[in-house]
Amino acid sequence: MATTLITHIGELVTNDPQRPTGPDDVLGAIADAALVIEGSKVAWVGPAADAPDADEVVDAGGRAVLPGFVDSHSHLVFAGDRALEFAARMAGESYAAGGIRTTVAATRAATDEQLTAHVARLVQEMAGQGTTTVEIKSGYGLTVLDEARSLAVARQFTEETTFLGAHVVPAEYADDPAGYVALVTGPMLEAAAPYARWVDAFCEEGAFDADQTRAVLEAGAALGLRGRLHASQLGPGPGILLAAELGLAAVDHCTYLTDADVDALRDSGTIATLLPGVEFSTRQPYPDARRLLDAGVAVALASDCNPGSCYTSSMPLCIALAVREMGMTPAEAVHAATYGGARALLRDDIGRLTVGARADLVLLDAPSHVHLAYRPGVPLVAGTWVGGRPQVLRAF
Ligand code: NIG
Ligand code: FE
Repeated sequence: MATTLITHIGELVTNDPQRPTGPDDVLGAIADAALVIEGSKVAWVGPAADAPDADEVVDAGGRAVLPGFVDSHSHLVFAGDRALEFAARMAGESYAAGGIRTTVAATRAATDEQLTAHVARLVQEMAGQGTTTVEIKSGYGLTVLDEARSLAVARQFTEETTFLGAHVVPAEYADDPAGYVALVTGPMLEAAAPYARWVDAFCEEGAFDADQTRAVLEAGAALGLRGRLHASQLGPGPGILLAAELGLAAVDHCTYLTDADVDALRDSGTIATLLPGVEFSTRQPYPDARRLLDAGVAVALASDCNPGSCYTSSMPLCIALAVREMGMTPAEAVHAATYGGARALLRDDIGRLTVGARADLVLLDAPSHVHLAYRPGVPLVAGTWVGGRPQVLRAF
């Protein structure tokens, strides 16, 4: 198998939990490093001075190399946008879950080809900003057919697909929410399951309560789908405790936290996925990442890219916001956007650059990971390798 040596790496972030580091260093970073790719995998990492020969040599010129970003929460299958809703919010309106119905109408009216082309554009946008794995949810179809086709579209781009029929009760079921939950847990789930790895629900006032959420997760589990949740985005609610009780991989948003929520997350090991682009775009208070980290809760960062609460595809922006607004160090934020995202998807082959891991990596046009927060808004990704295949974005 062909080998590629990337050498003269100023800082190689490995996220290797075994690598001895300083007391506060979670990144397992190596200075003056090299990495060898063999086929689709990482075959060697270490000091550049000890690097083995390879078929091809790439000189990183002192730049930093990181694991590719793992964006574990996005809603890319939709049509239309809600720019006017955003503008109204910036003029003082508040965000409400009901806006989702606007996108549902536009999505139902779009063809499969239009939806596919739109997802392709957004996935490409993400790739250019260093995302090498993305999770994509349904949730803007909300009929049996539209949820199944949303997931079939998403499946063309990732294995990490999530059935979110329980996003909001659609207008035609406004008077019969129980009937809608029966549809979601019955025929809709059955049609969606062949294209989904995960099942999710929006457990929030104005969307689904704890009993409805539990019913959706249990029905999904019966068909082999793993659970994850949207919870405590707009106010405190029961979703975090439910996620912990059911041992879900991740519970996302966690903007409003009680002491019981924090204790339950720590004890269950459920990942708290924080989505700072949402608070940026809805002018809400940011989640208290420091409180979670200090309590020993494992944290991930993701974009939540969607047309309503947060229309950014940028993991570097999320890292910068997490550092500036949520009390995370640059190292903690980068770790959460890589290793944390991988854990939130129950994946141990990504989010780290250790021997045997997938060769998904980002080359920054900067000497260290700190620049992702230190130089916000600057396009620092010079190139990526995805499964060992290079995508050079700019000369280095
Ligand atoms: O994760 N909170 C629920 N779902 C999305 C928002 C969807 C929308 O407003 O269109 C979220 O923020
Ligand atoms: Fe979301």
